[in-house]
Amino acid sequence: MPEHDPKKFDPARASTLDAAEREQYLPGGQLVALLELRGAETVLDYGAGTGRLALAAAAAIPQGRIVAVDESAEMLAHLQQRLGGTANAEVALISANRVGLRDGEADRILAVNLLHEIRGEGALDEMRRILAPDGILLVVDWERGRPRPGGPPDQLLYTAAEAASELRSHGFEAAEIPAGLPYHFVIRATPPPTAQKPA
Ligand SMILES: C[S@@+](CC[C@H](N)C(=O)[O-])C[C@H]1O[C@@H](n2cnc3c(N)ncnc32)[C@H](O)[C@@H]1O
Repeated sequence: MPEHDPKKFDPARASTLDAAEREQYLPGGQLVALLELRGAETVLDYGAGTGRLALAAAAAIPQGRIVAVDESAEMLAHLQQRLGGTANAEVALISANRVGLRDGEADRILAVNLLHEIRGEGALDEMRRILAPDGILLVVDWERGRPRPGGPPDQLLYTAAEAASELRSHGFEAAEIPAGLPYHFVIRATPPPTAQKPA
């Protein structure tokens, strides 16, 4: 049996992603609002877990579509169950950070509690490839050093400054948004202006 990678979420704990208190400290509506959606975007939820946030995003893009991907077959089963009846949602199992979207196809990418799990992988390069020149990547993760009731151990985590720096090293412009979340930072990342076409 392959050993569980300690930085990766344990699918046996999937129910914790839907715990009621999570909505208190990581409100889905607030995160979706930070995506600045108009209603017809293609949104990629990278590491979508049980699909709580993907479902909230789907409701905000009635003319668009949400693509929820995860590398865990167990989590994919949760995604299928939750999003199966949602007309504008697609789910996909991915491996080795290869997402079945074209270059620049995603107007928005949501990555919640994912950054510390993809340290040293090619996921940020894949996000950079997929994100539209005028797109937004929202990275939300537990912040190292903040007292908190649960979550991964500090040594796995980033500070907001380190996370922004990591995103910049993968070709994004990145700035922390003061979202006021008790345990998490929020980084808004975009392709640099040189990648954007003039209006
Ligand atoms: C802590 S959970 C967060 C789930 C969801 N974003 C949320 O906040 O409710 C992290 C998820 O990312 C997935 N994951 C980790 N690394 C991944 C990768 N390289 N590609 C796709 N999914 C990944 C895990 O399987 C897990 O479902």
